[in-house]
Amino acid sequence: MTSGSPTSPAPAPVPVLAPDRPASPRRRYAVVGTGHRAGLYVSALTGAHADQGEIVAWVEPNAVRARYHDEQVTRETGAGPRPVYGPDDLERAIAEQRVDRVIVTTPDHAHADLVSRALRAGADVVVEKPIATDEAEARRIVDAVAETGRDLTMTFNYRYAPRNAALREVVASGEIGDVLAIHFDWALDTVHGADYFRRWHRDKRRSGGLLVHKSSHHFDLVSWWIDDAPRRVVASGGRRFYGHDGAHVREASTRPGTGVGQEDTAEARLRAEGIDPWRLDLAGDERLAALYGPEARAEDGYVRDADVFDEGIGLEDTLAVLVEYERGAVLTYSLVAHAPYEGYRVVVTGTRGRAELEVVERGSVAFGDDGVAVLDPTATPGAWDGDTVRPYGERLVVQKHWERAVDRPIPEGVGGHGGGDVFLLADVFDGPAAHDPLGRAAGYRDGIRASAVGYAANRSLTTGLPVTVADLDLGVELRRAHHDPHPATTEETPA
Ligand SMILES: NC(=O)c1ccc[n+]([C@@H]2O[C@H](COP(=O)([O-])OP(=O)(O)OC[C@H]3O[C@@H](n4cnc5c(N)ncnc54)[C@H](O)[C@@H]3O)[C@@H](O)[C@H]2O)c1
Repeated sequence: MTSGSPTSPAPAPVPVLAPDRPASPRRRYAVVGTGHRAGLYVSALTGAHADQGEIVAWVEPNAVRARYHDEQVTRETGAGPRPVYGPDDLERAIAEQRVDRVIVTTPDHAHADLVSRALRAGADVVVEKPIATDEAEARRIVDAVAETGRDLTMTFNYRYAPRNAALREVVASGEIGDVLAIHFDWALDTVHGADYFRRWHRDKRRSGGLLVHKSSHHFDLVSWWIDDAPRRVVASGGRRFYGHDGAHVREASTRPGTGVGQEDTAEARLRAEGIDPWRLDLAGDERLAALYGPEARAEDGYVRDADVFDEGIGLEDTLAVLVEYERGAVLTYSLVAHAPYEGYRVVVTGTRGRAELEVVERGSVAFGDDGVAVLDPTATPGAWDGDTVRPYGERLVVQKHWERAVDRPIPEGVGGHGGGDVFLLADVFDGPAAHDPLGRAAGYRDGIRASAVGYAANRSLTTGLPVTVADLDLGVELRRAHHDPHPATTEETPA
């Protein structure tokens, strides 16, 4: 992004791989749920983190998907194959394979059952967000942690993206004063946003809805940025765009067979070129085809590429939430899953000034020569050349009262999720850096704190009323004991 404002002196670089990390023992891992996300951990344990651990078992009901990852491990380590256990045999897998730690990358609705059982079977756990789909499920995990005293690592990769870490540094430094208000606007485009409407996420019982599944990332960021816990939540919104009766079908006469006006719309012009902007090309992507193609589907009927305009979709796509925080800050949050571009905007207003973070991940939805949407701008040089209005990039601007706004440099990230994944993996596999001033490593309490906003918001969507987070009865104290802008770790003792 371009800037006409002066640049302030560079802040201390965001620490990424802290040198104070103690050597960790090599651990035995079971990967539970071997779909798309499991790939991140499998690659880590066969690559950069092979010295910290090895995969000794898979727990997965679909043999085709388990085999896909197992073959990768064999290719890269020469060892193998590893046994595959069904979900009912998780405890047996842990005992027979002497598993130290399980990595849970199943659909969200299965997290609470698998995490609490793994803890009770004597393993530590690494779990993907969201920790659980609703407050009762979250409570199961809180109880299992309290009972076993075992370690649970939440993988909040967004904390590790240098741009998000840079905003945390600005707020924690006190330069904009005490935080009074946050505005957070997250836009998922019609590529990424639509994807939640094609598979299990579309059933709200399996994902907790986007306010839990997706926004738990965002609510975690807010709590972490401002070092505070949510107190009261009110939400509004619903499924407005996708589905058989959503606005797109109602308005767009461009759906095949729906009639008038096709020639007038951008979608109709794409269709005339043979491009269906709503279709996922499973067969055209080797990885997707292997994980979710006909052979995998024959095992369990998992449909990866359902029509986003189907009947029976329960997931909301247009959401607004107000959150009050314990120390008085207010958050206005919005999420749409059908924007023409992908990115987010955060404005943090404090007693001494404002910090504004603006990120464009895809300035528009563009299609390659093969008719497939371009997903990763960093892997497709030139895809958005010439877009000066919404250029790909990020910008952090800080302005103090009675001063001009200044650009704050953001360190370069590496790889996926704004550069977050590489640094996250170092904390997960090497053990959290002992003195990370940004406090990025996250535990179960952070996971509950983040999802609590979604649970409360879901209640509010149903009742139309504000919900006090304490009334969710989560069994854990979400407030921090004291305000420490430089906490050594975000984990605390169980309540
Ligand atoms: N942090 C991130 O940015 C990020 C990104 C993507 C996904 N995720 C999270 O990762 C998790 C997995 O998502 P995904 O996209 O890989 O899903 P997926 O559907 O591709 O894979 C899930 C796998 O779990 C298996 N499974 C289902 N029930 C199971 C059970 N009871 N026990 C064991 N395995 C079971 C499925 O057969 C499938 O192979 C989700 O919780 C999701 O929220 C996080």
